[in-house]
Amino acid sequence: MKSKLKSYGRQSIDEEDIKAVSDVLRSDFLTTGPKVAEFEQKFANYVRSKYAVAVSSGTAALHVACLAAGLKENDELITTPMTFAASANCALYCGAKPVFVDIHPETGLIDETKIENKITKQTKIIIPVHYSGLSCEMEKIRKIAKKHRLIIIEDACHALGAKYKKSKIGDCRYSDMAVFSFHPVKHITTGEGGMITTNSKELYEKLKVFRNHGIVREPKKLISRNEGPWYYEMQELGFNYRITDFQCALGLSQLKKVDGFINKRREIAKRYNDAFGNQQDLEIIREKEEQFNSYHLYIIKTSSRKNRLLLFERLKEKGISCQVHYIPVYWHPHYQKLGYKKGACPNAENFYNQIISIPMYPTLNRKEQEFVIKTIKKSIKEAEESR
Ligand SMILES: Cc1ncc(COP(=O)(O)O)c(C=O)c1O
Repeated sequence: MKSKLKSYGRQSIDEEDIKAVSDVLRSDFLTTGPKVAEFEQKFANYVRSKYAVAVSSGTAALHVACLAAGLKENDELITTPMTFAASANCALYCGAKPVFVDIHPETGLIDETKIENKITKQTKIIIPVHYSGLSCEMEKIRKIAKKHRLIIIEDACHALGAKYKKSKIGDCRYSDMAVFSFHPVKHITTGEGGMITTNSKELYEKLKVFRNHGIVREPKKLISRNEGPWYYEMQELGFNYRITDFQCALGLSQLKKVDGFINKRREIAKRYNDAFGNQQDLEIIREKEEQFNSYHLYIIKTSSRKNRLLLFERLKEKGISCQVHYIPVYWHPHYQKLGYKKGACPNAENFYNQIISIPMYPTLNRKEQEFVIKTIKKSIKEAEESR
């Protein structure tokens, strides 16, 4: 079989999505129009938060969330190294310092029991990352944050539709804000795009101001004299992190289908679980009772760094493109230049050495999945035999 499996993840776009976008392209507003507010409202309803603010990417969402939380120079932000660099870079954007806490080796999630040790007088924010679509131990993280008066921003870029206990990720029951990404590999896409959800009116107002250059228009919120009906003020140093109306139209159309997408992802995961659950030399990540995984990624753990490379190359040869999520953030040269040292989070480093993300997206069909499973099993058997 010549495989068409060009990526570990991809978008699912249909004619309805295309029509939604083209309708907006024919309308009066390409940006800052009605689709933005409609997308925010429907997204908030879906995740059960009070407010949502749409922005141009998940990275922008993390940045404005940190700004709204008041993150400043010399502050510290705690996160995990087993994430995309953006979860830590948002601290650097604010002149603050990311502090990395090691992970649970069986899930790749931040080890909440190691957080308190890393808290200092400078710590302001914790960013737990719901890695692969599986929720962190939010109840425990919330307790720690309360005790030390820290703000929690959930990085939920992998976890749209996921649940923790009775809570839907994004409802901010255990956090101050949650951020999402709509990159094409994610559960729903707007091309590029992101969202921040919160239940705090104060944070909501700040997020909107930072998204749009720090500009305030409401007469009763002005600092200087109101010069007239045209008058607005730039009260903070914000950014242009606005998202367009045609992107939000796509987001709205995708959101209608999100539960179907997640069901498909869970069906695919179940077949992988059945195939690999008892496979020698391979580990899978298991969902605990209080978790509902929305499977942004499907991760398998090989038995060694060497076997990971062998398997990766074999899959590539067969036309199955995979990826490794993630190289520990502080291994990147930029972080090394800042003085971060390899060896700091041994669980994350060992985890990184063993993992591969295999194809996981709603349009992956049975035949393609069977081919992936067969190729992986065969490659593992060959590795065993050559020992
Ligand atoms: C965990 C995590 N955080 C943040 C981001 C950043 O999102 P975006 O690519 O939309 O800027 C991503 C995207 O890959 C991510 O996976």
